[in-house]
Amino acid sequence: MLKARKCVREMSEYHSPLCDPAMELRLDLNESTTGCSPRVLARIRSLDAKLLALYPSRESGEKLVADFLGIKPEEVLLTNGADEGIDLLCRAYLDCDDELIIITPAFAMYEIFARAAGAKTVRVPTNADLSFPIEQVLRAITPRTRLIVITNPNNPTGLDVSREDILRVIKAAPDSAVLLDEAYFDFYGKTMMEQIGRIPNLFVARTFSKAYGLAGMRLGILAGAAEQISLLRRMISPFNINAFAVECLKEALDDRQFVAGYVKQVCGTREWLREKLTAMGFQCWPSYTNFLLVNFGDLRASVLEGMTNRKIALRNRPDCAGCLRISIGTQQEMERVLAALEEIVAEKSVSQQAVR
Ligand SMILES: Cc1ncc(COP(=O)(O)O)c(C=O)c1O
Repeated sequence: MLKARKCVREMSEYHSPLCDPAMELRLDLNESTTGCSPRVLARIRSLDAKLLALYPSRESGEKLVADFLGIKPEEVLLTNGADEGIDLLCRAYLDCDDELIIITPAFAMYEIFARAAGAKTVRVPTNADLSFPIEQVLRAITPRTRLIVITNPNNPTGLDVSREDILRVIKAAPDSAVLLDEAYFDFYGKTMMEQIGRIPNLFVARTFSKAYGLAGMRLGILAGAAEQISLLRRMISPFNINAFAVECLKEALDDRQFVAGYVKQVCGTREWLREKLTAMGFQCWPSYTNFLLVNFGDLRASVLEGMTNRKIALRNRPDCAGCLRISIGTQQEMERVLAALEEIVAEKSVSQQAVR
């Protein structure tokens, strides 16, 4: 009988929650609820059948991105979403029984790709306040550690990691690749991209899925030392990026006003919602991203169910006690969430009084 590799047979299917078409307001995947730049859309509409008949070429896009980031084209790889960059690193650096270090709670795909590579995942829990557990991370490094992922700011906590801690990890593991996942960089503003070319084991990943509103385009960036990126190029399809992404990249990067305006709105609305939720007595962590992690305690299941009944999708985080993650949409959308929450809380307290 045909058998896949043992490590693959032992995995279970991972389904993103996005499959429910009944949801009117999707706040569970940290997507933009308003869409991409109109300049990108206009470019898509201008594409003709001939162009789509051709295989896309990644090189011109890599030059654009390198100029945009202030690094060399040899130091950058355009990927099919940041996901593909993570997968590539796992396949390139992790042999069977090698170790990947992640800090939990974490974005799910790190562990999935590492398991598919046959590697072992070493999970280092955040501190009780969800901050970066620097001493424990340093202690977790062994001669088998080949990849360490630091997500900054982190998903699902929304919290950041200090530059000093990142540098300590990089220095402590010179034989390990260190992936700094900057998927939420645009909402945060701090980066280590300028260290590309200076630190040989550092990789930085970015995505167009969040602040650029292009999750459906599947476009990401992986930056690293030229020698390492050259190794990754050996493993990747020359046509991993679709023609829409290649053709729209320039408009996406050039429309700075669009991204800046969107980021400003999201950060403002996020702080407004955080204040409201805190005033209602729910614990909310500070966030440097386009989402909030909220502790609803015993009310978590009721809030999740009540929101789903109102066609609002939030993300359950069973890995954070009592917590749901809420992506930030427009002010109006967040007002809808708040009104729904107030109703759910009121219904719950009426039903509790009835029991008493
Ligand atoms: C931390 C983090 N990294 C990577 C990704 C994947 O991004 P992409 O859509 O570019 O594959 C996400 C998506 O939610 C994320 O939260």
